[in-house]
Amino acid sequence: MIPKSVLCAAAILLVAPMSARAEDKETVSPSALHAKIDYCKTCHGVSGQGYRGSVPMPRLAGQQPDYIKNQLQAFIEHRRTNPVMNNVAHVLSPPMLQGLADHFQSLNPKPLGGAPHDLVAAGEKIYRDGVGDKVPACASCHGADAKGNGEFPRLAGQLHDYVFRKLTNWDRERGQDKNKPDTSAIMEPITHDLTEAQIKAVAAYLSYVE
Ligand code: HEC
Ligand code: HEC
Repeated sequence: MIPKSVLCAAAILLVAPMSARAEDKETVSPSALHAKIDYCKTCHGVSGQGYRGSVPMPRLAGQQPDYIKNQLQAFIEHRRTNPVMNNVAHVLSPPMLQGLADHFQSLNPKPLGGAPHDLVAAGEKIYRDGVGDKVPACASCHGADAKGNGEFPRLAGQLHDYVFRKLTNWDRERGQDKNKPDTSAIMEPITHDLTEAQIKAVAAYLSYVE
């Protein structure tokens, strides 16, 4: 007969690794979270305000947490293509995603601005009213204040060159799997129906919205 103590030890050996893994999934230490936040800010700016380098690093400050998590998940699954962020995101655990999303939402720096002022009025009109009966009002999804909602991103204060790049390059970077459409499919027809001049204008307007 096998002694009880041996059975107990075997049970603990079987259970222990599983519970350790479960714990990893559910928590993240404050120091690990802060180290990661500092790392994100080397590119996204010390207040998450974005940074204009050789490529624009988007503003994350004030962004909707559900949107941030959804996009990081899209980078992890390669539904959204960006070599830098594909690498950054694939090591992030679900509680880390949540901690990062909550932190960046809590920041509220001034927008970087910097776009041509003479385009702002035309851009605001597109944002509020859309264009003819082809392009719906951006405000109808992104909010009258451009602060977004859930998986609809905040656009207020977003870098104009980033917005321009996204809207002129949508199909290549987002919504990769046509058989498994995700939230990126909502924007796809809208990006097709905007002219380059209209994109420049709406991007200029958004870059100043606080
Ligand atoms: C080496 C630079 C770099 C680092 C470090 C970095 N990012 Fe990024 N991130 C980028 C760039 C560049 C983009 C724009 C990608 C694109 O154009 O699609 C981006 C895009 C994003 C987006 C999508 C934003 C949007 O509006 O759709 C999120 C969310 C994001 N990063 C979060 C993070 C988080 C969280 C961290 C830290 C864990 C981080 N990033 C670290 C460079 C970086
Ligand atoms: C029917 C709803 C809807 C309308 C109308 C709409 N959007 Fe969007 N937009 C979305 C959704 C949803 C996303 C997130 C897509 C994703 O998950 O990849 C998005 C994403 C974006 C992004 C990418 C943001 C980022 O941080 O990468 C930009 C820029 C954008 N929209 C601009 C606009 C502009 C400008 C208009 C008006 C001309 C507009 N949108 C109208 C739903 C909408």
